[in-house]
Amino acid sequence: MFKTIFRFIPVRRYSNSSFIAGVIFGCCLISFVNHEFHRPLFLSLLSGNDGNSNGHYETFFKNFDNETGADRFIVPNIIHFIRFDNFPLGFVDYVVLKAAMRNHKPDKFFFHTDVKNATCEGKYWDLVKKDRDLWSRIEVKYLEAPTEIFGQQLSEDFRFYHGSDIARIRVLMQYGGIYLDNDCFVIHSLDKYRKFECVVNWDEGQFLGNQVFIAHKNSRFLALYLESYKDNYYPDRWYYNGGERPTTEILFHHPHLIHRVKGNFGADTGVGSSLFTDPNYDWRRFDIIHMLMGHRYYMDPHFNETEEFDEDNIRTYRYTFGTMARQVLDLEPDFSLSP
Ligand SMILES: *[C@@H]1O[C@H](CO)[C@@H](O)[C@H](O)[C@H]1NC(C)=O
Ligand SMILES: *[C@@H]1O[C@H](CO)[C@@H](O)[C@H](O)[C@H]1NC(C)=O
Ligand SMILES: *[C@@H]1O[C@H](CO)[C@@H](O)[C@H](O)[C@H]1NC(C)=O
Repeated sequence: MFKTIFRFIPVRRYSNSSFIAGVIFGCCLISFVNHEFHRPLFLSLLSGNDGNSNGHYETFFKNFDNETGADRFIVPNIIHFIRFDNFPLGFVDYVVLKAAMRNHKPDKFFFHTDVKNATCEGKYWDLVKKDRDLWSRIEVKYLEAPTEIFGQQLSEDFRFYHGSDIARIRVLMQYGGIYLDNDCFVIHSLDKYRKFECVVNWDEGQFLGNQVFIAHKNSRFLALYLESYKDNYYPDRWYYNGGERPTTEILFHHPHLIHRVKGNFGADTGVGSSLFTDPNYDWRRFDIIHMLMGHRYYMDPHFNETEEFDEDNIRTYRYTFGTMARQVLDLEPDFSLSP
């Protein structure tokens, strides 16, 4: 099921022509939206002068400097993962967790899952338990997977994807912290981003990437992002509400609401695919890399040789992901058997 869905994922980049079309379309949409129903929304959230209870978002961060940030940490040092419909840890999940622990070291990892009575069992959870410092930071929290948003039924096919798009916004609005997709490998400390109201990966010429957000729970952008689903959820469009709409409807107009990260979160598909095709990719220059594990079956020419990575075959894997995983697991490479 997951693989067939991935085939439909358009690369989250827009080409020049669709960019122009998108801008034209976006402008039409924006002018329409401004005159119809969005203006009151933006005004109420941003000016807070209509007695709307959301008004506190502006006062909380009024005049916040999105370039320099606060002079102290304002985002709690919690890394959030969402695991809908799948709680057991796999090898890659384990590598991701170890990397975040070693290279960033949050106070807590929150695993939000809709799996009832989820228990930390199985080979990789057992390894986590053996690492007492890591294990002491883990908390599992039950989170119902959304089935609707503002009265609109979520797509059946994309339910867990669109549900997770929504849930990550809500989780951050509840706790604040660092949201990571389950295949985001942390390379350097993320502390420098914890001084901002909201950090968003928005590469040049692309829609925002929703695989990483670092935010205070009262971030104005998060509130607007969630609101932007109201009366405008498009179930058939994979990345409209998750990425396109918040970019064109919010960020194009209010770039000051976020601290924009370009490139450093390794969201570009060229980065992820290089991990499986280039033996010596310069991965250390990023703070995070989105590894696109769900796309590896067509991006990695050697996929049929190691469909499932594990602690044995990773020793012989010659491409960059092998180096990254071996480093966080303290494993030595072994290329003696491979051709
Ligand atoms: C979860 O645990 C509770 C209490 O331990 C039990 O009553 C319930 O039946 C369990 N639910 C499932 C789905 O296993
Ligand atoms: C900060 O906001 C301004 C708009 O006020 C925007 O042009 C700029 O790109 C933002 N800077 C960052 C780092 O996001
Ligand atoms: C993988 O596919 C290639 C090309 O299709 C083939 O030559 C090779 O034998 C396959 N390897 C395995 C382990 O199946």
